Amino acid sequence: MKKLMMLFLLIFTVGAKSFSTTPPDEGMWLPMFIERLNYVDMQKMGLKLTAQELYSINNSSLKDAIVSLGFFCTAEVISDEGLILTNHHCGYESIQSHSSIEHDYLTDGFWAYSKAEELTNESLTASFLVRMEDVTAKFKSKLTNDMSEKERQEKIDAITDKLQNEASDDGKYDVEVKSFFDGNEFYMFVYETYKDVRLVGAPPSAIGKFGGDTDNWMWPRHTGDFSMFRIYTAPDGSPAEYSKNNIPMKSKHSLPISIKGVQKNDFAMVWGYPGRTQRYETSYAVDLAINQSNPSIVNIRDTKLSIMKKDMDADNAIKIKYASNYAQTANYWKYFIGQTKGLKRLDVLNKKKEIENQFTEWVNQDAKRKEIYGDALSLIEKAYTELTKYNLSQIYVNEAAFQGPDIIYFSYGLNPLYKMLKNNSDKTKAAKTEAEIKTAADAFKLTTEKFFKDFNAPTDQKLFAALMKMYYDNVPKDQHPEIFTTVEKKYKGCFVKFAEDVYKNSFLVCPVKLNKFLEKPTLKAMEKDLGFMTMRSILLAYHSIYEKTAVAQEQLDKGNRLFVAGMLEMNPDKKYYPNANSTMRMSYGQVLDYIPMDAVHYDYITTIKGIMEKEDPNNDEFIVPAKLKELYTKKDFGKYGLNDNMVVCFITNNDITGGNSGSPVINGEGQLIGIAFDGNWEAMSGDIAYEPNLQRTICVDIRYVLFCIDKLAGAQNLIKEMNIVE
Ligand code: ARG
Repeated sequence: MKKLMMLFLLIFTVGAKSFSTTPPDEGMWLPMFIERLNYVDMQKMGLKLTAQELYSINNSSLKDAIVSLGFFCTAEVISDEGLILTNHHCGYESIQSHSSIEHDYLTDGFWAYSKAEELTNESLTASFLVRMEDVTAKFKSKLTNDMSEKERQEKIDAITDKLQNEASDDGKYDVEVKSFFDGNEFYMFVYETYKDVRLVGAPPSAIGKFGGDTDNWMWPRHTGDFSMFRIYTAPDGSPAEYSKNNIPMKSKHSLPISIKGVQKNDFAMVWGYPGRTQRYETSYAVDLAINQSNPSIVNIRDTKLSIMKKDMDADNAIKIKYASNYAQTANYWKYFIGQTKGLKRLDVLNKKKEIENQFTEWVNQDAKRKEIYGDALSLIEKAYTELTKYNLSQIYVNEAAFQGPDIIYFSYGLNPLYKMLKNNSDKTKAAKTEAEIKTAADAFKLTTEKFFKDFNAPTDQKLFAALMKMYYDNVPKDQHPEIFTTVEKKYKGCFVKFAEDVYKNSFLVCPVKLNKFLEKPTLKAMEKDLGFMTMRSILLAYHSIYEKTAVAQEQLDKGNRLFVAGMLEMNPDKKYYPNANSTMRMSYGQVLDYIPMDAVHYDYITTIKGIMEKEDPNNDEFIVPAKLKELYTKKDFGKYGLNDNMVVCFITNNDITGGNSGSPVINGEGQLIGIAFDGNWEAMSGDIAYEPNLQRTICVDIRYVLFCIDKLAGAQNLIKEMNIVE
């Protein structure tokens, strides 16, 4: 998941964020409240550690082994020397960035047999939570119900700034203050962020991505979805940028690894950084998702994927360049197909309406409640009526433009420079100096090498032509970016011709032209560049939509905040957990099978036999590496096997979502038994409504991981570092 892309996604998302009440096993709990809310329950289910051993801010505890990998994935510390485990799909972009036709680590895997062989990764970070704090009281005293949303946000920003300054200890810590329960509570998170994180190992994709997009989001699964990194620090142990003088991190806590194996009903907990759930989304949001947003996203991504695939299949170099982009696009393409199906099959829309009816009934019972919460649902309804008018625009700006052809997002990086030059063309404004302009141009230069490494102009041109055409065809005309008029007039509405012109002339697609422009950037050159001006035009269209929807967005925020507050008040005895928001959470449950549909039972483990059953040498997604086959034939599983077989994956009923990828699955003794990497097809609506009978977390068994490191890769150097409990 690309971080910056995610930013866009978040800005553009129409919707509520929230929490839910709790049937067993549902819930992504805040570590600081485990003792109060969950501990007794967890003990009954098989937890042997004390609450202090799980989360403590004074002594080292389990939470100190949990890493946020750039806030897009989770990792866990498994040695005293900063060795961390995560998913293959979390390390994918790093693995890809080190790959070329000569060293194709995606296909062949990569292993560092000494620390000197580990590979550095620009811009990959590892953050540890130092502490968290409930700061709601600091906000509540300053926020009132009759404030406008704008005033409210200004207050929130001011208090947040102050808290961040106080807690950052002169920049030593990264401090985040986040709203929970739709703006009803606030918590502060203090992190220490390490910036030298090196690639240590990854299996070949035939193991790490076995089953590909066909098996993605599905059980039964046979994927060895893991990769390894190491965190480095300055010689004094503090976080530092990459330097050859850095040393492996001295871990505060590292997880012991159990190879005793899993049994049905075993206690299992997952720790990590789930990104986003919408468990308290209203029926209005569900309706829009099912009927418009999801099908549109899927439709756009269908086009993107088929264009990329054609070029990737034709040329191995292009295949490597686009591997990560393709995988990310395909992942959420399938997600939204599954979510729509799940929402329909489980009748989530009517379940939501039911909850809203109960809420309304409760509100109407009491005059005071009516005064406070009476408008909540009508505000939400009104907001959705308005937001729906602009929804397709927002989706196309996001999916077809900024996450579409690469030049759009790339050229967005030139926007600061453009604004300076534009400013200087206006005599009434104070001029930006040469030096300021040079700084902006130089800052952009830093992004160009990485961009061109994964760029193929002909592929991008095809994406541009097809996606801009879809944007033109599907978004209401009065919301079109201005540039579409040019396409109508100058190119007779032909986007293929338009794209030809863009890619023939734009400085964005050619390093030589771009460098020449950056040496002496002028407003004229930018305004003449069709590629850059396409981005500008779409950006302006987006700004105008943003302005038009501002009031509705405020209504929605207020409506959701009141609705959630009302629900909390309506069920005072229920334990609540907040929606996922990329903060540390713990989910507990057990290893468990399930019944996906009438007459079908899915077991809770898969084995290496199943890998052989799925083998298809003619299908990229189901190739089995020769070495794995050899070990299978010899039944040479070392101490990681089970009789003459070996477990590959297992499932639990832990409650996780995207961002939890790479999360440790931990037994009652605090030992690592697996790595969480996916959810299952029958519960794809789970981010909006948890389904206790269906929702499962798919984990790679730690024994299979160790087998791959030990027997397949022969990386005993790494095995030796770990604390393996037999
Ligand atoms: N669905 C997984 C997740 O979002 C990603 C799996 C990656 N594998 C793949 N075939 N794309 O965490």
